[in-house]
Amino acid sequence: MQDRTNTIAGWALAGAVAALGLSIVSGGIFVETHPEKEGYPVEAVEGEGGGEDAIAPIATRLAEADVAAGEAIYKGKCTACHTDTQGGANGLGPNLWGVVGAAHGHRSDFAYSDAVASIEGPWSFDALDEWLESPRRYAPGTKMTFAGLSDPQDRANVIAYLNAQGSNLPFPPPPAPAEEETEAAEGEAVEGDAPAGEEAAAEEAEGAEATANEAAPAEAE
Ligand code: HEC
Repeated sequence: MQDRTNTIAGWALAGAVAALGLSIVSGGIFVETHPEKEGYPVEAVEGEGGGEDAIAPIATRLAEADVAAGEAIYKGKCTACHTDTQGGANGLGPNLWGVVGAAHGHRSDFAYSDAVASIEGPWSFDALDEWLESPRRYAPGTKMTFAGLSDPQDRANVIAYLNAQGSNLPFPPPPAPAEEETEAAEGEAVEGDAPAGEEAAAEEAEGAEATANEAAPAEAE
């Protein structure tokens, strides 16, 4: 009897140890999975925040640009370092007369950083737009310690003003916004479920064309 009691007690103890072990293991699993799951929503939110995509192209913004508003921004934010008159002196930054369309580092009498001087090609409207959004991102290592103009229309206004200081280049024609939006809307619709009918209609139309094409030679003969 004594022996059996010990055996029973032994099994009971072993069972308890096994149960404890299981709970530790499963507890460990749950503890590890929680932080991982909590991380996902954060990523999703970041992914959806593609606000930059919504910025109108520079050509569209230039077409709506307000030169007087650009001059006000220029006077407030740029004149500490720049002059923009013909033959004006360089300051902390180079004179900007005629800079639109000119080469990067367009003044031979200003000591540019390599970051700017080494960039090939002219200061196009696009390049200026990117530059003024963030000089540091456009030309890492630039001497222009200006944070940038975050408002896209502010940038277009300043560029339009700068263009009027000796460059006077024609603005690029803006893409027709109405048409673009229609195209985009149609593109999205095709990806959805709804347009099965539309596709069928398109096929029918093609079929009709093909029939017409087949019919034409017959008529010609
Ligand atoms: C704190 C001084 C400072 C301010 C403010 C500043 N700039 Fe500059 N800018 C510079 C310097 C310095 C350079 C030369 C950059 C280099 O060589 O890396 C420069 C270069 C430029 C260039 C390129 C010129 C060329 O010949 O290639 C443009 C265009 C320009 N700035 C426009 C502006 C405009 C527009 C503003 C206002 C929105 C502005 N900057 C504000 C200092 C400044």
